[in-house]
Amino acid sequence: MSEKTIHLIITRQDGPDKPSYTEEFRVPYRPNMNVISVLMEIQKNPVNAKGEKTTPVVWEMNCLEEVCGACSMVINGKPRQSCSALIDQLEQPIRLQPMSTFPIIRDLMIDRSRMFDALKRVKAWIPIDGTYDLGPGPRMPEKTRQWAYELSKCMTCGVCLEACPNVNSHSPFIGPAPINQVRLFNAHPTGAMNAEERLEAIMGEGGITDCGNSQNCVQSCPKGIPLTTSIADLNRQTTIYSFKRFLTN
Ligand code: SF4
Ligand code: FES
Repeated sequence: MSEKTIHLIITRQDGPDKPSYTEEFRVPYRPNMNVISVLMEIQKNPVNAKGEKTTPVVWEMNCLEEVCGACSMVINGKPRQSCSALIDQLEQPIRLQPMSTFPIIRDLMIDRSRMFDALKRVKAWIPIDGTYDLGPGPRMPEKTRQWAYELSKCMTCGVCLEACPNVNSHSPFIGPAPINQVRLFNAHPTGAMNAEERLEAIMGEGGITDCGNSQNCVQSCPKGIPLTTSIADLNRQTTIYSFKRFLTN
């Protein structure tokens, strides 16, 4: 009996400005494999389905437990994390593509800088001096802490940006994930001291008004983050802030 194999069709690209092409692979099946373990097999033995020696497929990964977001790619048409994509649950041939919203570095490896730049733009942190012990911070009401914790699960994977029709290489829209972080940090008792700076940051070009309310983001987020609720809340916050700014100027 012939050996059971996993059939993959991988979209590859040898560099940022190189043309893309597809290459097929057949990897010996083992129970409980995920997409990353299959890619590792290709890395160990880079031979394509025609039996030709090829270059190892390049991708990014880190935590291997759906926490870092680095391994995100489009698997059978759906943007998701390859570390949690189990082979037994995928229809074959398995098609792997890089997420199209981000510049390609090589093969399945993309450059997520636009997300990290957006986090810097919206000041997605709490500016406290870490050089001496400040003692315990202010308490958060338990009810707030519970929903804020849900928002904090974002792993900057980029799946919501990939799903959003308004985020692309021609658009400056920062996308849902950084906007959600503004809600998280504005809800924190210490973070609230810089709330207006964060609101200013999302009121400019590429900010919250570029959201087209397609609702794709909330359906795609692997962490189940209520992104559209965050966007609606920030719409309220920016409107109130605009009035306040108008009245005090
Ligand atoms: S909000 Fe969800 S989909 Fe978007 S980057 Fe964060 S974890 Fe990924
Ligand atoms: S390797 Fe971190 S989310 Fe997959």
